[in-house]
Amino acid sequence: MTQLDVDDVLPQLTLEEKVSLVMGGDFWHTAAVERLGVPRVMVADGPHGLRMQPDEGDHAGIGGSLPATCFPPAAGLASSWDRGLLAEVGAALAHEAREQGVSVVLGPGVNIKRSPLCGRNFEYLSEDPHLAGELALALVQELQAGGVGTSVKHFAANNQEDDRLRVSAEVDERTLREIYLPAFERVVTGAQPWTVMCAYNKVNGTYASEHHWLLTEVLRGEWGFEGVVVSDWGAVHDRVAALAAGLDLEMPPQVGVSDTALLDAARSHRLPPEVLDLGARRVLELVRRAQPTLDAAGDTPASATRTEEHHALARRAAAASAVLLRNEGGLLPLDPDARGVVAVLGAFATEPRYQGAGSSQVSPTRVDVPLEELRAALPGAQVEHAAGFALDGEPDEALLTEARDLAARADTVVLCLGLPAAAESEGFDRTHLELPADQLALLDAVARVHDRVVVVLANGSVVRVSDWEHRVGAVLECWLGGQAAGGGLADLLTGRVTPAGKLAETVPLRLQDTPSYLAFPGDSQVVRYGEGLFVGYRGFDAREQEVSHPFGFGLSYTTFALAEPRVEVTGSVAGGDLDVVVRVAVTNTGERAGAEVVQLYVAAPDATVTRPQRELKGFDRVALQPGETGEAVLHLDQRSFSHWSELHRRWAVEAGDFVLHVGTSSRDLPHATTLHLDAPSLAAPLGPGSTLHEWLADDRGRTLLAELFEQQGGGGILADEHMVSVIGTMPLTTLAGFGTAGLDHAGLRGLVERLDR
Ligand code: BGC
Repeated sequence: MTQLDVDDVLPQLTLEEKVSLVMGGDFWHTAAVERLGVPRVMVADGPHGLRMQPDEGDHAGIGGSLPATCFPPAAGLASSWDRGLLAEVGAALAHEAREQGVSVVLGPGVNIKRSPLCGRNFEYLSEDPHLAGELALALVQELQAGGVGTSVKHFAANNQEDDRLRVSAEVDERTLREIYLPAFERVVTGAQPWTVMCAYNKVNGTYASEHHWLLTEVLRGEWGFEGVVVSDWGAVHDRVAALAAGLDLEMPPQVGVSDTALLDAARSHRLPPEVLDLGARRVLELVRRAQPTLDAAGDTPASATRTEEHHALARRAAAASAVLLRNEGGLLPLDPDARGVVAVLGAFATEPRYQGAGSSQVSPTRVDVPLEELRAALPGAQVEHAAGFALDGEPDEALLTEARDLAARADTVVLCLGLPAAAESEGFDRTHLELPADQLALLDAVARVHDRVVVVLANGSVVRVSDWEHRVGAVLECWLGGQAAGGGLADLLTGRVTPAGKLAETVPLRLQDTPSYLAFPGDSQVVRYGEGLFVGYRGFDAREQEVSHPFGFGLSYTTFALAEPRVEVTGSVAGGDLDVVVRVAVTNTGERAGAEVVQLYVAAPDATVTRPQRELKGFDRVALQPGETGEAVLHLDQRSFSHWSELHRRWAVEAGDFVLHVGTSSRDLPHATTLHLDAPSLAAPLGPGSTLHEWLADDRGRTLLAELFEQQGGGGILADEHMVSVIGTMPLTTLAGFGTAGLDHAGLRGLVERLDR
């Protein structure tokens, strides 16, 4: 195929052809324009494995798709805190996409986990924007390096499933800028994703698909996005308004509706020709980018070796995704040479739950069965199984009794619990954080008869552990581990792999403690993000609330020592080039190979605006052999210290002290280094409307005001601290109106004139 020449093709397109291009050809393809040699390109879900539907399309995971490797969904991958792993998964996804003729993979999902109840949290990375952005960037960079595009989704504020097609997320700009947009921004500025997918919901009353500020001013104007904005499937309500707002490609096309509307608008001059041209041009650019993949499609059919390699990667990824929450008395790892009876209980041991439902559902190339993998990993032991509960949640006494009896005669119990598929999915939110009652009954029965119980959890988003974890020896949170979850589990339980995962989301004591509790999922088609910046650990920390397990937490089978951080500062805030590098020597002080994630949280104690206690701004994962020392390197830039200034409508650093907290979880931060940053003043210029406090905070303002008061005989007022506190928030115009301390409007005018001189 010859390379598409967009500049040549665009002017030759008829109005109808341009309209067809901005509407997509069918469920999974852009439209072709055969007479001009414009091929169609295929897009397919999704974030952790391809769902390529060769026949009829659907967006709910109903229809079948070609077999593809199912890697752990994002909740798991993110718990690895491992950019390298995300990059490897990205490269593997690109391979499989090329083999299946898919030009754009519809992922990753970088929406912030505002509430642990969101039904789609398994598809999202974290409650923290820095972690989500860094990991998504690694995946997108490597996926696109493989010649395949991505679609970073769902832009923006798509943080719940309840009423997701209509609900208006009411979020203030600072919260959007600091919490909900940065992960998108990081990927856009760092990797130029081929596409960005707009969300279904409204943002502050306007559909994301028609949101000019989001799709054009911020995404393109501020971040420099050059790709295609594609709609989420069915997110377009008014195609003309959406195109004008910056939505280039509607998927799937609403034939007979959107085309009619666009043609009418174009013919009646309500749609400027350049707006349609721009959309068509961007879709043509996408086709041009995809052309090499199209040309090569089918050249490299899925090979058995590739399938094996990717399964092995999925197994590594599954092990890296798990977080060890508890390990009393070194119960784990189990001795791989152990003899005796190991009771593997729970229906998930034979029917693993390894992915979530909805548009991201993959037809796996194969699925590891945990029980079989454990039998293979413990060859000397007698590994026996009892289901203990039914996956449909129906209470079954006989199953429970059988499992408890097996536990009673076992040496060790591995209890596989989790959320059944019906409990969480795209399309609806959960209403509580509890494990199903029959599983809790099994746990209770087993804990009564055994003291060596390892609970293994399979769930896509947080479940409550606080009311039972003290009753068992170990808890391994495996999230949804992808098709090789079983193998990954065997590797972790027997110590072939040392757990190194860290929580990418807080495990709260109770749902009621979660910051969005009183405003999730909203009602009457509106959800107010009342907790503002205080999402996830930011909220728990601000209220000094106890949690079960904090953000960033995860145990290991080995131990690490972190040396005092070394901080190197170059550039300056005024120069706009501040750069801080923090190096931390890490030593593996235990007996096993393992990895530690060094985390850096920035605190701004001198801030005059409301800021979270501490925010994650850097992390680095260091893998070490026993006794080995390595170095974690953490990079901070000016943004790491900034807040979104509502006053100035830009990112700003306030002068003052910043504390760099370094450690291994958001609540285990043994090292703190204070850094003083000089920065230009952010205070608004003084004027008659400035308050007494503001005048007094300014050196020149204070001197001039003091002189004036002195002249008018009211100088004493400034020495009266209590009085200054009482009237300090009053603008000088108001004080002049009252004649306070002899100040009048003429005097105030004179004061302002002197200040300006
Ligand atoms: C989902 C998207 C997905 C699309 C296509 C929508 O329902 O929200 O994430 O990419 O369907 O399947």
